[in-house]
Amino acid sequence: MLKSNVVKNTKIGIIGLGTVGTGVVKILKDFQNIEITQIAVRDIHKKREIDNLDRSILTDNPFDIVNNPEIDIVVEVIGGINPAYDLLKTAITNGKHIVTANKELLAKNGQELFNLANENNVVILYEAAIAGGIPIIMPIKTTLAGNKIHTIEAILNGTTNYILTKMEKGSVSYEEVLKEAQNLGYAEADPTGDVEGFDSAYKIATLATIALNQRVDINKIYREGITKISAKDMKFAKELGYKIKLIALAKLSNENKTDVRVHPMLVPIKDCLASINGVTNSVVLEGFPVGRVMFAGPGAGMFPTASSVIGDILIIAGSIDTKEALPMMKCHHDTDAEQIDINDTINKYYIAITAANTPGVIGSIGEICGRHNISLASVLQKGIDEQNTADIVVITEACIERNIKSAICELEQNSNILKINNLIRVME
Ligand code: NAP
Ligand code: HSE
Repeated sequence: MLKSNVVKNTKIGIIGLGTVGTGVVKILKDFQNIEITQIAVRDIHKKREIDNLDRSILTDNPFDIVNNPEIDIVVEVIGGINPAYDLLKTAITNGKHIVTANKELLAKNGQELFNLANENNVVILYEAAIAGGIPIIMPIKTTLAGNKIHTIEAILNGTTNYILTKMEKGSVSYEEVLKEAQNLGYAEADPTGDVEGFDSAYKIATLATIALNQRVDINKIYREGITKISAKDMKFAKELGYKIKLIALAKLSNENKTDVRVHPMLVPIKDCLASINGVTNSVVLEGFPVGRVMFAGPGAGMFPTASSVIGDILIIAGSIDTKEALPMMKCHHDTDAEQIDINDTINKYYIAITAANTPGVIGSIGEICGRHNISLASVLQKGIDEQNTADIVVITEACIERNIKSAICELEQNSNILKINNLIRVME
């Protein structure tokens, strides 16, 4: 038995025994004073990769767990909105503390669930929902509590970082790498959530709410995934001194407005986020008085995610007897963030163009951008192909997003510009 700070026998019910639930059960069975009373699954006859699993505690009705008067803590690791939302509401109303890894539910229904938890004097802990095995919520709520955090730059999705890292090295197809990420247990049940940036958007919604101290609305977060990134983009980015990463950003302006978004970015090779590879995630926070701090570690997978879930269970179990439930971990946010529209943001851009091999074409690109108040920082032209076309890659100076969009419209009208292959924001 492993010793812990838990002195009173604590009964937990686990809803879900997939990648995360299995990791939690495998590790938790060795802890003193923690008893797994019930586990809910969809299919009770399925083979489970857990030695000596007591099948008598399995149920296919998760409401058995949230309504079980013996259970102190409900661990929700099924994911999605239904039935997780109803299950957590019932559990909270029944006075149970919650540990969840469900970023979608927190992003969409977090406010209501946190308010309900406050009313019922229970807590919802969710370390595993934001960056897998990286401790980030607890440090923000405790050790960093004296800071005004104004910037978050993060890689919050293991699947996409795994795919982009493999694509950088070449040779494997997108489909093959996605399959690998699924087999390793990194991807969501529907991987569209990963590759189209929804998963990162859910995570940054909650992370930004906690770190910037304002309620961020998931529906106002701009989101783009990685499916339009080509091997050529990766190659050109490398030649220009960048790597391409799916970045989740949150910034507080001097006027106290928030800029929260998820999209691919060209990250300068010297930036610490450029060296975050594979399933590793990273969160860089900037604030006063701490300055810039970086967290990094495994962002997905059975055991790293179980580590965060178990940490939350032990925190609650260690103070289960106290009358006031973990005051620092409660949600205290009552101000709604004023979120900036993506068209009003200021960025540098990478534009990948296929153009006719005609004299003056680069000049036309410069002129069009100039007409929209955009200066060019660098231009790279690659060899001419059999169709007498050339790949031209442009990096702009910082400009307003609505200007780059109008410049792209004008570039698309120009007869020598055959195709705008991609437009990607560039990190400064
Ligand atoms: P998963 O492997 O698909 O497992 C889901 C589990 O939930 C399965 O055991 C399934 O039962 C059970 N389940 C689904 N619907 C149910 C229902 N209506 N009633 C009872 N049981 C039900 O998912 P996962 O990867 O472990 O992810 C779980 C949660 O953790 C998600 O919110 C995910 O976003 C989050 N998360 C995952 C990771 C990761 O690396 N995988 C990391 C961080 C956070 P059966 O086994 O019988 O099918
Ligand atoms: N699908 C998620 C990822 C799991 O790949 O990051 C961890 O939240």
